[in-house]
Amino acid sequence: MADACGVDFGTSNSTVGWSRPGQPALLALEDGKPTLPSVIFFNAEDDTVQYGRAALAGYLGGAEGRLMRSMKSLLGSSLMDGQTEIQGNAMAFKALLAQFIGELKRRAEASAGRTFSRAVLGRPVFFVDGNPKADRLAQDTLAEVAQMVGFREIDFQFEPIAAAFDYESQIGREELVLVADIGGGTSDFSLVRLAPQRAAKLDRRSDILATGGVHLGGTDFDKYLSLACAMPLLGYGSMLNNGGTIPSSIYFNLATWHNINLAYTQKTRAQLQDIYRDAVARDRLDSLHALIDQRAGHWLAGQMELGKIALSEADLTRLDLDRMSPRQTLTIGRADFDGAIGGMVGSIESTVASLLRDAGITAAAIDTVFFTGGSSGVRLLRDRIAAVVPAARQVEGDRFGSIGAGLALDAQRKFA
Ligand SMILES: Nc1ncnc2c1ncn2[C@@H]1O[C@H](COP(=O)(O)OP(=O)(O)OP(=O)(O)O)[C@@H](O)[C@H]1O
Ligand SMILES: [Mg+2]
Repeated sequence: MADACGVDFGTSNSTVGWSRPGQPALLALEDGKPTLPSVIFFNAEDDTVQYGRAALAGYLGGAEGRLMRSMKSLLGSSLMDGQTEIQGNAMAFKALLAQFIGELKRRAEASAGRTFSRAVLGRPVFFVDGNPKADRLAQDTLAEVAQMVGFREIDFQFEPIAAAFDYESQIGREELVLVADIGGGTSDFSLVRLAPQRAAKLDRRSDILATGGVHLGGTDFDKYLSLACAMPLLGYGSMLNNGGTIPSSIYFNLATWHNINLAYTQKTRAQLQDIYRDAVARDRLDSLHALIDQRAGHWLAGQMELGKIALSEADLTRLDLDRMSPRQTLTIGRADFDGAIGGMVGSIESTVASLLRDAGITAAAIDTVFFTGGSSGVRLLRDRIAAVVPAARQVEGDRFGSIGAGLALDAQRKFA
């Protein structure tokens, strides 16, 4: 067994896998669970730092402090070289990533009872769409962070290839597989020839027919659901006395997981005061003000996420927005959700279609479509991806564990 692990640092959830014969690959990271939600809460009341579910509980419990979610979305963004203010101190975003990934490593090591100095890190096919230079920079930044926390040797693997390796460990004969990993930040695909006897080959390049992806995922679905259903309650889209519409940047920041803290800055508050003077719907701006005062932006985004997840099963969901003032009840139908995400679903679907086209593979040649990632629960999206390869068998992976398990296999093969 190598001292090498696989690290799936996800936009929403992270896992660490370590390949050992006869044992599940994923290491327990929080209360015996194999996932650690990618969340940090800097609790200002007792000056502690919390991670994962505990971080969310601390924030939702009403403790003063700063919550960080979707930190992976900073990789490749213009914010990456910047900093954020935590308890009055500036903290570089890179240091913030190191804080979380360092904790992942510590927990994995505690769970495995050993240290890891080598790792295969998962990465989306594109951190940044259509900008190879920025994409390279994002990977280099992640490598730098991994080194900062003590990994001496690092390699990268595309997340949908890792998922393919996990699926390959479960099959008995050769299959041509379309892997669809629909996560929190990105939707990633691979077209791979898998077989038990191919698994042992070190060089899999000839089995990988194509990889592709797009920077759209579950956090974007939350955002557009919020803009469609919740932000209007706070004044989004309402009028100014001069006949114009209210500026939208505050609402976009509040609806975007990794930008929510920008809604709490002095600059935003000053801007809000200016807008208020000219606003027609002042009652809604009062609600916005109250929400910002309570630092309830992550709570509201979380409500949108819960609504979205409920709509994976139900046709209608009802949200009790008890932290809004005045308190609101919001009923959202599946059709509202499908309408809000329709454009993004179209982009994801065409990413799949062009992947097949560019690889010169007909839909009929594909044996299996393997779904993984939390957002593969979204009905409309699954149906539309499945419709691109109508003859393929549909297989559900471990939604939150396939990437980490596949990265563990990859680490074992690369470093053993
Ligand atoms: N049942 C469900 N239906 C729809 N969406 C869901 C469901 N369960 C979880 N999600 C969404 O899945 C996303 C998280 O999925 P996952 O953990 O695979 O992402 P990730 O690996 O952290 O992100 P990425 O791979 O893009 O960096 C979140 O946006 C979450 O809201
Ligand atoms: Mg993922």
